[in-house]
Amino acid sequence: MDLSLKNYQDYLEVYKFSVEQPEEFWSDIAYTFSWKQPWEKVLNWDFKEANIEWFKGAKLNLSYNCLDRHLAESGNKTAFIFEPNDTNAETRKISYYELHEMVCRFANVLKANGVKKGDRICIYLPMIPEAIVAMLACARVGAVHSVVFAGFSAQSISDRVNDSDCSLIITSDGAVRGDKKIELKKIVDEALVSCPSIKKCIVFNSKNWEVNMIAGRDVWWHSEIKKVDSHNEPEWMDAEDPLFILYTSGSTGKPKGVLHTCGGYMVMVGYSFKTVFNYQPHQIFWCTADIGWVTGHSYIAFGPTLNGATSVLYEGVPAWPDAGRYWNIIDKHQVNIFYTSPTVIRSLMAFGDTFLEGKNLSSLEVLGTVGEPINEEAWFWYHDRIGKEHCPIVDTWWQTETGATMMTPIAGLGVAKPGYAMYPMPGIQLMLVNEKGDEIFGNGVEGNLCVKFPWPSMARTVYGDHKRFQQTYFSTYKNLYFTGDGCKRDEEGFYRITGRVDDVINVSGHRIGTGEVEDAINDHECIIESAVVGFPHDIKGQALYAFVICDKKVDDLEKFKIEVGKIVSERIGPFARPDKIQIVRALPKTRSGKIMRRILRKIAEGEISNLGDVTTLIDPTVVEEIKKEAL
Ligand code: PRX
Repeated sequence: MDLSLKNYQDYLEVYKFSVEQPEEFWSDIAYTFSWKQPWEKVLNWDFKEANIEWFKGAKLNLSYNCLDRHLAESGNKTAFIFEPNDTNAETRKISYYELHEMVCRFANVLKANGVKKGDRICIYLPMIPEAIVAMLACARVGAVHSVVFAGFSAQSISDRVNDSDCSLIITSDGAVRGDKKIELKKIVDEALVSCPSIKKCIVFNSKNWEVNMIAGRDVWWHSEIKKVDSHNEPEWMDAEDPLFILYTSGSTGKPKGVLHTCGGYMVMVGYSFKTVFNYQPHQIFWCTADIGWVTGHSYIAFGPTLNGATSVLYEGVPAWPDAGRYWNIIDKHQVNIFYTSPTVIRSLMAFGDTFLEGKNLSSLEVLGTVGEPINEEAWFWYHDRIGKEHCPIVDTWWQTETGATMMTPIAGLGVAKPGYAMYPMPGIQLMLVNEKGDEIFGNGVEGNLCVKFPWPSMARTVYGDHKRFQQTYFSTYKNLYFTGDGCKRDEEGFYRITGRVDDVINVSGHRIGTGEVEDAINDHECIIESAVVGFPHDIKGQALYAFVICDKKVDDLEKFKIEVGKIVSERIGPFARPDKIQIVRALPKTRSGKIMRRILRKIAEGEISNLGDVTTLIDPTVVEEIKKEAL
């Protein structure tokens, strides 16, 4: 069957085929990639035990598919246009030939430093081409990378390194984002004090800063690269061999190491990049995400390179040196497809339209958003002022666990509504369920969003804890993958994500588990207990509101709040700092000791007139007190 999508009717036909014959559909897609050895079976699955296998028996290498197979025809094509933070620094263009050579050399460096197939490697790098090189080189030698966002603290690095027993870490001397300097190597040094599994640390000299190098452990990227040649035979991996781990927050406990495998991830990430954005070979693509999040993995490092595309890679921040920087970059590099987050759109919109003056955005053909719901005001501003009313907006809904876009209005098909992720990608079988897990049929309905059939890029496990994987995603509803999101299906059958229904809060598109923040806050010497909830924020979408119980008198409230924020920064990262902190005498708890977050959420949202039934609380008077002092 012809799987190309030229209009919405094509989509409906391809979607029907993909649901009726999923294995045929996905194998047709899979044949468009290079395999060393074909698969014996397209799919084995069991949602009860959470065991999923795609393309079992096949052998491939992801970096071979991202690089080597493009060389004969388009080796000279630019793979990445690197735009440095500093406006005076020169743009660096890297062709597929050059990227291939960089990756092969670095793959040899990894091997020379003892890395073997299956080893876990932590990557803690800023948005520089070497970050992509490191990821592709790990994939090439069969090492499992775990990228830790370079805004995370030393404690977060060591937690992640220890959870997956990483043997090597790759970092740089430092990063400059806007006018802020971040000494990455120093943070890594602090983390490594408690990381016994790390044997080597490879340091890229990005800024020429002085760093402390520990003999025997730390080596320089530039010296190591000189010791190896540029030939590297890729490691041929089983389709189900692990590809990477990416830590993400959940409702409970510490972050989970979501594990993706080679074959299925490649197939769906490559397919979705091309399909969602309707990518054409001459186009320039720019995804503004950081490589520390899944969007940076799937739509900077892997999706575009799997398609031989040209991508912009930007080192800096959106509003530096002023709020016109993104529009300058689009103008300068004639970007055709621009993919960013609603938070970025809202924050740039708030600076006003003067920053758009003199910027030629006429190269833009497709716009995208990801990571959080987009409000109508931001959608229209993006559509009218940035897309000049002619660019489709792909509102892509997906998750770290899904690996690739699951729902979106596909570019070029002409059916879209502001704030709607619209319809599932071919091959994705969605279902809305009620609290009991019964399917909600028909249109004009709302429920919890589940997926009822496997898709190739789905996570396979939580690293080292398959039980947690099974329990988190497959135990709430029988035989379904539960996303944790609420969702509406409107009268026409189109989908709109309404937000998380668990204790995960989406701050500026960063997923933050309330439990993690509470654990950090409780470390303050005056705090004995806390409860963190989300509340709506004009720019960040949501922000954190912490209710805390102190067992000591707090004399200086402002100083206290700064201290609490500092603890959260150190334990997690600055992005997880609560915006509001309220000291309370007690928390609203049920007789079984469970905090009634629903009540706290309403108070944080300022909706205090109707808090619902509070009679099940041990001490209902507490609610009145909290309400009176709400911030
Ligand atoms: O709540 C949904 C929200 O982000 C969550 C996934 O977060 P993360 O794993 O960090 O991945 C973000 C990048 C893919 C989802 O459970 N989310 C993601 N995309 C959208 C969204 N909410 C509304 N609309 C979206 N387009």
